[in-house]
Amino acid sequence: MSERAKTAEIVRAADAKSANSGEKLAALDRILALSPVIPVAVVDDAAQAVALGRALLAGGIAVLEITLRSAAALPAIRALRAELPELKIGCGTLRSPAQINSAVSAGAQFLVAPGAPPGLARALAEAPVPALPGAATPTEMMQLAALGFARQKFFPTESAGGAKLLQAIAPVLPELRFCPTGGITEQSAPAYLRCPNVACIGASWLAPPPLLRAGDFAAIESRARHAAALR
Ligand code: 3PG
Repeated sequence: MSERAKTAEIVRAADAKSANSGEKLAALDRILALSPVIPVAVVDDAAQAVALGRALLAGGIAVLEITLRSAAALPAIRALRAELPELKIGCGTLRSPAQINSAVSAGAQFLVAPGAPPGLARALAEAPVPALPGAATPTEMMQLAALGFARQKFFPTESAGGAKLLQAIAPVLPELRFCPTGGITEQSAPAYLRCPNVACIGASWLAPPPLLRAGDFAAIESRARHAAALR
């Protein structure tokens, strides 16, 4: 390997370790561009998660966030990675560094957290896959930006200021892009997608627990098709 190639390798390795810069940022941007809406789901078991994944793909959505709010989350992520390699799988509701390790070991390709206290933010920055740490105020957004997070989850969006807050901070923090999540509906989604600093939104309306429990994957596929067409 030439000296120049070695240097490039070292820079890439350093990049990969820091927040979402370099290759991690590019990988994250590719994920955020997959769909106007990242479906957020709480699943009951791995088979249900795989059926959900198939319905989303059939409806034109190739990304899914499985939240760590049920015991089935990690087995579901493992099964989704094994059975649906064309679907990008994120792990959400991360609250501790230990959970990050479990999520990555299960195969999560991106990480999502509702907030970002310092220990969690550092662990997300050092994780081998990209992350969307949560922020609700300009100060939290700036703290995460200082750690290198140019993409963040804005949560809980509707109660923290909604599209108006995003519009207000766009000229002030122009380098940041957000995935607003929390209380967004199919009706309110277009206003978010029009914000210049919104990469995509996150929402549970595509695959809410009642539809998952009823096994109504045709309805989920139909919701996915509508959501995919929002932009
Ligand atoms: C979540 O973590 O559950 C997301 O914020 C989804 O929010 P929603 O249910 O309001 O869409």
